Amino acid sequence: MLRGGFVKVVEESEVSSKTPTALLLNGVEVLLCKVGGRIFATSARCTHRGCSLGEGWLDNGFLVCGCHLSRFDPKNGEVVEGPAEESLHVFESYIDEGYVWVKL
Ligand code: FES
Repeated sequence: MLRGGFVKVVEESEVSSKTPTALLLNGVEVLLCKVGGRIFATSARCTHRGCSLGEGWLDNGFLVCGCHLSRFDPKNGEVVEGPAEESLHVFESYIDEGYVWVKL
């Protein structure tokens, strides 16, 4: 379902606060991270060497890549700790009636 450019993705309750949720939306890989009860949507490939961040985990609100342990802030996509140097792309998102909506 599409609403003003936003795609209805998953139920909010399906998104874990321990591990990120990777999804393929209209051919775009998107990662959902639940931090502090809020959900943030970013690109799902690590900017270091392209590992899937869906294989990573959340640690103290930061997203960790399982390949070489780069850390990102899911709120703004910024690198907190390398070896990655480039930020992740952040998609606009919101919750409505228990569902996550993401703008691709
Ligand atoms: S591919 Fe993610 S840290 Fe290297």
